[in-house]
Amino acid sequence: MQELTLVVPGQSASTRIVVGAGALDVLGEVAADAPRIALVTDVNVDSAGWARRATAALEARPGRVAHVCRLPPGEGAKTAASVEALWAAWSAAELGRDGLVVAVGGGVVTDVAGFAAATHLRGVSWVAVPTTLLAMADAAIGGKTGVNTPSGKNLAGAVHHPRAVLADLATLRTLPDATRAEGWAEVVKAAVIGDADLFEALESAAVALRGRDESAAAGVLSRSIRVKAAVVKSDAREASRREILNFGHTVAHALEHASAGRLSHGRAVACGLVAESRLAVDLGRLPAEAPARIAALVHDLGLVRPRAVELPERSAVEASLLADKKRRRGTLRVALPSGWGAHVAAPGLEVDASRLLDAVWSD
Ligand SMILES: NC(=O)c1ccc[n+]([C@@H]2O[C@H](COP(=O)([O-])OP(=O)(O)OC[C@H]3O[C@@H](n4cnc5c(N)ncnc54)[C@H](O)[C@@H]3O)[C@@H](O)[C@H]2O)c1
Ligand SMILES: [Zn+2]
Repeated sequence: MQELTLVVPGQSASTRIVVGAGALDVLGEVAADAPRIALVTDVNVDSAGWARRATAALEARPGRVAHVCRLPPGEGAKTAASVEALWAAWSAAELGRDGLVVAVGGGVVTDVAGFAAATHLRGVSWVAVPTTLLAMADAAIGGKTGVNTPSGKNLAGAVHHPRAVLADLATLRTLPDATRAEGWAEVVKAAVIGDADLFEALESAAVALRGRDESAAAGVLSRSIRVKAAVVKSDAREASRREILNFGHTVAHALEHASAGRLSHGRAVACGLVAESRLAVDLGRLPAEAPARIAALVHDLGLVRPRAVELPERSAVEASLLADKKRRRGTLRVALPSGWGAHVAAPGLEVDASRLLDAVWSD
């Protein structure tokens, strides 16, 4: 197991992050002082047996009982109604301010449960047990929690850092290959913005990683988490440095939006990383071979970049790009690395939408 600590700036709190086989068993110890525990999961993760495993780890201590809530699976459950249902269940279970919320699931579960924990009685402690690669690499790290509203994605939320993140690679065994591969896009992003050696490690281990080698995965995942943790640590609130986590995502969000959800987030990010790295090459920020290396790596990790025929119409992507909330004065804001495996404190810049669109369609 690998262990790191994310010290939250401006707060006395820190997040203990444990990555590797057996991380789930650390749950008993992390929850040691909580008189009451509320576990939140979704029905798929529950059927796969992971909520039961977590409950067993918690209840290893005599007399301790975890109250379990199950959300429906998928993005549709990321709503204020789910949060209200959790508040009600927790009040009925008498979860006090000294209680502990344990979220066992993908990014939807960690976002919803984390937000409900941030707001129940104005904030109770929580622990994330991410069970998708995307949640391990991204959603559970950094303290952002929230739900979608009828007006858009992630529009209500709070920054509420978990006490611990326990990423047990064994939980990925029950994930379908395609869902698992989604998370690699964020790991590749982390390498390009913050760790050139990690990129090489991913290239050398791609076959093993695709073959579900858990110890190789734990190694690269913890390095990827280190990159995100370093960015979050430098700047807890959404300010300039944190923008670099959006690398590849200006294009990705427009593709997801224009395809009305047909393209998954991971595939859209894979496409966005390649397109935005082309722009970075033009601006002299990345070496000429970067886009091809990124494209080859995501492919080797099992993430299928959309073929030209699968992409939405250019005009639809343009409309989505220009509707992006980061748009300022008719141009677009993107965040690019400053070099291979590096970024600076203010990584954002304004570019013309047409340049970005050309980069998407230059295959
Ligand atoms: N808070 C943040 O900083 C942040 C960052 C990135 C993404 N996110 C959010 O994360 C969400 C996406 O997360 P996700 O991709 O994990 O989606 P998800 O939580 O919907 O999980 C994907 C699917 O896999 C199933 N599943 C999860 N773990 C499983 C397991 N071990 N075995 C079998 N099935 C399992 C789920 O039931 C679901 O059907 C989005 O809502 C996104 O906005 C948040
Ligand atoms: Zn993403």
